[in-house]
Amino acid sequence: MPKEDFPRVIFPGTQHEACIRRFSFDDVDTVVSVERSASKHPWTEQNFVSSIGAGHLCLALTQNGQFIGHAVVSVLPDELELLIISVAPDRQRKGYACALLVELCNIFDNRDFFLEVREGNLPAIALYKRLGFNVVDQRKAYYSTPEKQGLRENALVMRRLKHYEYLY
Ligand SMILES: CC(C)(COP(=O)(O)OP(=O)(O)OC[C@H]1O[C@@H](n2cnc3c(N)ncnc32)[C@H](O)[C@@H]1OP(=O)(O)O)[C@@H](O)C(=O)NCCC(=O)NCCS
Repeated sequence: MPKEDFPRVIFPGTQHEACIRRFSFDDVDTVVSVERSASKHPWTEQNFVSSIGAGHLCLALTQNGQFIGHAVVSVLPDELELLIISVAPDRQRKGYACALLVELCNIFDNRDFFLEVREGNLPAIALYKRLGFNVVDQRKAYYSTPEKQGLRENALVMRRLKHYEYLY
């Protein structure tokens, strides 16, 4: 199988076995419902539709046909950018986000991997640090926080260098 092909199976033969596959316009409603259940600042339907239209790598995690998470990645010749990753609340802390990102790091091991994350999103920051991402920049007042009337939240820019050796 070519290195960049999907679907791929993670945790094969265990109770956590799941499939990583591309999602399309037909799946957006389901993806949005997982997204709303998981995230305090969810992507909208339009965000996902735009990403599919832009040719981003749009991946769903499925288990027995049920959507349990997703990630959207911009794949450029020299780098990857993680645009979003979410896992359904009842499936969190089981290693799914980590496994999905490890697959991406292994597939695209000739590219540096970037992402932006809210400074207060400690679970996500812990996940990324565990995978070898480091903070390389900060964007002041980058994100809106509608729940905090006008206050904006800083973004951290994190990078994982290609050829980083993953030790788990
Ligand atoms: C961030 C998120 C994707 C993590 O998904 P997950 O499948 O639960 O993560 P994993 O189980 O693979 O976690 C791997 C490691 O990351 C760290 N981590 C993940 N969630 C954590 C939490 N809530 N608190 C502290 N560390 C956490 C831990 O080191 C964890 O390993 P451990 O469980 O052995 O301690 C999930 O919490 C989520 O969907 N959050 C809402 C959406 C979001 O904020 N996405 C990121 C920004 S776009």
